[in-house]
Amino acid sequence: PQRKGVVRPFQSLYQNFWCPTYVLPNVIAFQRHFQAKHKDILLVSQPKSGTTWLKALVFSVVNRSHFDISSTPLLTSHPHHLVPFFEYQLYGSNPRPDLDGLAEPRLFSTHIPYASLAECAKRSDCRIIYICRNPLDTVVSSWHFYLEMARSQDQPEWSLEEHFETYCQGKTSFGPFWEHMVGYWKESLERPHKVLFLKYEDLKEDIVGQLKKVAGFVGLPFTEVEEEGGVIQQIAKMCSLKTLKDLEVNKSGELPAMNIKVEKRSYFRKGEVGDWVNHLTPSMVDRLSSIMKEKMSPFGLQFKTR
Ligand code: A3P
Repeated sequence: PQRKGVVRPFQSLYQNFWCPTYVLPNVIAFQRHFQAKHKDILLVSQPKSGTTWLKALVFSVVNRSHFDISSTPLLTSHPHHLVPFFEYQLYGSNPRPDLDGLAEPRLFSTHIPYASLAECAKRSDCRIIYICRNPLDTVVSSWHFYLEMARSQDQPEWSLEEHFETYCQGKTSFGPFWEHMVGYWKESLERPHKVLFLKYEDLKEDIVGQLKKVAGFVGLPFTEVEEEGGVIQQIAKMCSLKTLKDLEVNKSGELPAMNIKVEKRSYFRKGEVGDWVNHLTPSMVDRLSSIMKEKMSPFGLQFKTR
């Protein structure tokens, strides 16, 4: 039954990645029917890598001329509503949603690996912003997320050991995680105007610098007047974990447009770099570190982990 599938999603191996079985039809509909426009911006991530934060940030950067920060739609809408997922929301209820009327630049998001994006999204001039997070924190964050879903739906809990094992085998949603990251990483090196590769840890360390990078990448660099007026800092503050977590709109209720039901608040937890030290055993750390070393370091992809 669907509800059970939510907590421990059944995965189907599709085009070399593990796709939650219940979203596979939506992924296929997206691949067949999505028509990219050159102004589109696609936000891509693996689950629990900072997707929600990235949505809030990019939405704010792109729409800053329409909305003063005091009247931003972020105050009344969850970031996942403002930047919908192809596979959970847009293609979830209708295989051919009408996306033509959306305001440009259209902002979309997805967890789909680069190789499996709709061909037109790869070929067109639309831009992709990818966010990744060190795997040690990501596996802990995703375990908490599933645990909370299990609890809220009265489902049996999934142990950290069980989740860790699935993650290391590359079998959690949209995995293997290393292939997902390396796929976008390589593309960002080959086509830096097409794919901007961001890291959660860099955003934590220097949000102002990273926001400037994002704004430049989408062709809307901050002006001197904006910089002097503190616009970047205002965006950073509005999108901080504390601000978003405390907003009434993000505190209660579920995200109804998803074809799964998830509590809105479960997207905001601790938001720290290095929380894994509180959860992973030394042997877990060794195992995951050697996967990172073997599968990602050869491509020059490395992470700050604390
Ligand atoms: P933790 O579970 O480590 O706290 P996603 O948005 O991809 O689902 O990722 C969720 C993770 O990002 C959670 O990590 C969550 O707390 C964190 N997060 C959500 N909003 C954030 C924000 N505005 N700033 C920093 N981290 C945020």
